[in-house]
Amino acid sequence: MRTPPTSQFMLEPVLDPNADEGTSRDAIGLGSSAGKGLDTRHGTILTLEDISVSFDGFKALNNLNLYIGVGELRCIIGPNGAGKTTLMDVITGKTRPSHGKAWFGETMDLTIMSEVQIAQAGIGRKFQKPTVFEALTVFENLELAQKTNKSVWASLRARLTGEQRDRIDQVLETIRLSASVERPAGLLSHGQKQFLEIGMLLVQDPQLLLLDEPVAGMTDAETEFTAELFKTLAGHHSLMVVEHDMGFVGSIADHVTVLHQGSVLAEGSLEDVQADERVIEVYLGR
Ligand SMILES: Nc1ncnc2c1ncn2[C@@H]1O[C@H](COP(=O)(O)OP(=O)(O)OP(=O)(O)O)[C@@H](O)[C@H]1O
Ligand SMILES: [Mg+2]
Repeated sequence: MRTPPTSQFMLEPVLDPNADEGTSRDAIGLGSSAGKGLDTRHGTILTLEDISVSFDGFKALNNLNLYIGVGELRCIIGPNGAGKTTLMDVITGKTRPSHGKAWFGETMDLTIMSEVQIAQAGIGRKFQKPTVFEALTVFENLELAQKTNKSVWASLRARLTGEQRDRIDQVLETIRLSASVERPAGLLSHGQKQFLEIGMLLVQDPQLLLLDEPVAGMTDAETEFTAELFKTLAGHHSLMVVEHDMGFVGSIADHVTVLHQGSVLAEGSLEDVQADERVIEVYLGR
């Protein structure tokens, strides 16, 4: 389905006559202020055009087009093997597309930046399995994450500025771990570790957050809190969330992209895509 453009800040349309469905530039943005000097004057924080990724001839992504607006909370759904994780790999520089364009803001070409450069430019990624330092306290984990350019021990020795400390305190509150600052991360529940890892991204103030199946393995209460958290973060950050849990997607998403066989199959409100026959056939009707 082709969703009508809704943002007044969109890029000039560059429509590919050969493009498949779901390629409209319908990034829903909050405007051009993404901060940190990133050029988002057209309101689009991420532009993927005609992206293909081949693994030994198999196309994990196939002429994919996707636009994310500044401050948007976008959910990506689709069957196993649709290419959702590969999409995140391309955005973070882990996998290079064999074809296509990937822009962060208007000027940063993600296809030629290293993973480290992309992270430093403001794209944070959370993998499914939490990767916190279990022996370190909650506070130390956040402190380390904030000083990513130093070695572990150099980081722990370096004094925090007042501003950095304030930011950590603010993040602790956001992820509801203020009462556990001195606790070794290894003693946290699975959900709390996930929140800590989100906190470790937040202290770096990323403009775009990529979250792959964030509520897998969480309790209902933790899932509910995650929904609340993401809704709070949207606006200040742009979020791309991959999730199979439709209840969760329904509670956060205003805009959903359905991937299938490496391409965008449908895009729109969850209601719209849930009513789409093709989506029902390949995904929801399973
Ligand atoms: N490094 C790789 N080498 C070969 N094939 C790969 C590689 N990475 C992914 N694939 C294949 O690409 C396709 C897309 O995989 P991907 O992990 O992106 O799917 P997904 O949508 O994240 O699925 P899931 O919902 O199961 O996490 C799959 O068929 C997968 O087997
Ligand atoms: Mg995946």
